[in-house]
Amino acid sequence: MANSKPKYYLTTPIYYANSRPHVGSAYTTIVCDVIARYKRMCGFDVAYLTGTDEHGVNIERAAEKLGISPADLVDRNQQIFRDLWKLLGISYTDFVRTTEPRHAVAVQNLVRRTQRVSPDAIFKRKYEGRYCIYDNLYVSDTPEPADCQICGRPAELISEENYFFRLSAYQEKLLQLYRDQPDFVQPDFRLNEVKSFVESGLKDLSISRKTIKWGIPWPGDPEHVFYVWYDALTSYMSGIGFVDGETNSKKDSDRFKKFWPANVHMIGKEIIRFHAVYWPAFLMAAFPDKKLSEYMPGRIQAHGWLLFEQEKMSKSKGNVAYAEPIVKALGNDALRYYLLREVVFGQDGNFSKDALITRYNADLANGLGNLSSRTLTMIENYCRGVVPTQAPAPPNLHELASTTFYNTIRIAYDKFEFSDALTIIWGLVAIADKYLAEEKPWTLAKDPAQTERLEQVLYVAAESLRIVSVLAHPVIPDATQKIWEQLGQVGKIENQSINDLQWGGLKPRTRIGKPEGVFPRADKKEILERIETMENEIRNPSSAQPGATNSDAATPATATPAAAAVGAAAAPAVPAKIGIEDFAKVELRAGIVKSAERIQGADKLLKLLVDIGDEVRQVLAGIALSYAPEDLVGRKVVIVTNLAPRKMRGLESNGMLLAASVGPDGKPVLCTFAEDVPAGAKVK
Ligand code: MSP
Repeated sequence: MANSKPKYYLTTPIYYANSRPHVGSAYTTIVCDVIARYKRMCGFDVAYLTGTDEHGVNIERAAEKLGISPADLVDRNQQIFRDLWKLLGISYTDFVRTTEPRHAVAVQNLVRRTQRVSPDAIFKRKYEGRYCIYDNLYVSDTPEPADCQICGRPAELISEENYFFRLSAYQEKLLQLYRDQPDFVQPDFRLNEVKSFVESGLKDLSISRKTIKWGIPWPGDPEHVFYVWYDALTSYMSGIGFVDGETNSKKDSDRFKKFWPANVHMIGKEIIRFHAVYWPAFLMAAFPDKKLSEYMPGRIQAHGWLLFEQEKMSKSKGNVAYAEPIVKALGNDALRYYLLREVVFGQDGNFSKDALITRYNADLANGLGNLSSRTLTMIENYCRGVVPTQAPAPPNLHELASTTFYNTIRIAYDKFEFSDALTIIWGLVAIADKYLAEEKPWTLAKDPAQTERLEQVLYVAAESLRIVSVLAHPVIPDATQKIWEQLGQVGKIENQSINDLQWGGLKPRTRIGKPEGVFPRADKKEILERIETMENEIRNPSSAQPGATNSDAATPATATPAAAAVGAAAAPAVPAKIGIEDFAKVELRAGIVKSAERIQGADKLLKLLVDIGDEVRQVLAGIALSYAPEDLVGRKVVIVTNLAPRKMRGLESNGMLLAASVGPDGKPVLCTFAEDVPAGAKVK
């Protein structure tokens, strides 16, 4: 039977596969997942595309640095993206890699089609200008030095013959598009920025590169490869089965015919020009024979950045937080809820692990988690585990029985006002909690004359819990499914229709499941330590101590040769013997401790300033239980100086001290020199 549901197609940016994803990339993907889940609960057939952008000079160079091929690099990294999306419960339906043959065919066909139907749109000419390899942006069309407008780094000079897209010819058509589809770019203030950019005059755009090998060859002229943005943007089509876009094409998949064009391309604000100017112009040139509604995306939705210490979180700045440690320490829902609740969608928002744990404890552990375990445990204890007779919503929870309330939540989700939706939903969690505190079912349970009242109160609590769970499901899918099962509901909560939600859906006499906590309270100090340890292992995998426990903040800061040897025997991945060339990779120097102090809240760590001859390094060392800070000043130590810096307790550690590991507890004893050695002397 044909699927009669209306379609909804949304996409994330196709992420560069030159490095692993961080919380910033996870943010966009989570936001899209919330929308996809919400739309499904509203009765839409949803296609949700994500993927990896695997061509271009930044991939080529990243691979070169690691001494591997670009193909190996992107193979490895795309898997890390997929694994993270799985961990985060991302319900994407389609994943595209720009190195897939189906994608290359689509890109070549799109350009062939463009050359055929809009013969003037593409031409060849010499190009000389500045290009940013990090943002793949043509920064200026003159050879004079210029910095990239996005990342601020100096752009590189390129001079070659290229294929050009006649963007200048699309200025008026684009302005007309913005008039015809006034919400084509959202939020509105971004549309104004885009309009002014277009009104100020558009320059033709180079869409091929000759000096790069790692790309899709230009059809009929394989010395050229496609400009990465032409390549990557087309994955929004190839990812769901575009092949040639001909009328009644037998090659395009039914999926493409059903879902294209996209309803929403979700992006970060820095790539708006590519999506709101270049992409619609490429499409206009490729499909001049079609109606706008047949090929033009419905909306380009730009959101703000996650900031870390006031700067955009980005791998190249080294100020990233990773999602995996947070999920492993607190669960998938914790990160999803925090990002959607704390960041006002569309604006920049600060990311802080401290605030995340505070939010988790307040809203999830003490809020929804507490309401759920109290309610279910009382039904188990006072009603023999069976949902009591239906009761109407009491005055303070009257909203749960009003259509206006459900509309308000739907409108907030529809407008991507996630923080507002969650604030309203959690307002009800608080009211339900207060209701229980005031009605005191635990006191009612002691008086047999109050049984009816007791049952009413517990019905109200359980029904509130059911409704809240359905409404919050798009944001916290794991916990709400668990609550759903504990409420004795069958099937998946994701199959509930948000449109049909109303008071009284919880059927009396339903046998509830076993009450189990969904959000255990988090000890902030311990969780922060665990997250930092796991983050360090991601940043610096080679330094991860085999056998180090997650909560042991001391181990990453000191290397204990004895312990390392024991660890090596236990870790099969490390060969028993290494060659001299491996040892030569470790740079060891003599250092002199200039100062040492304790770190508040970290029992095992000391913060040291160590003179290594040409500079003074800050090193965090896990030796506080063995050495008093004052005894260390002036001491000669051996320090590993070429270890990548990492953060612990918000402080950077830039080096590692060598120490022996003594006795059953592995007490660290610092390596030193009996003779006089100047600071900075090489240790070989
Ligand atoms: N490959 C291009 C996109 C091509 S789309 C056809 C690209 N890739 S990217 O890996 O750099 O991803 C950029 C996107 O990741 C941003 O637009 C945004 O969606 C997300 N974010 C990356 N860092 C972010 C923050 N610090 N904060 C919020 N989102 C962030 O550009």
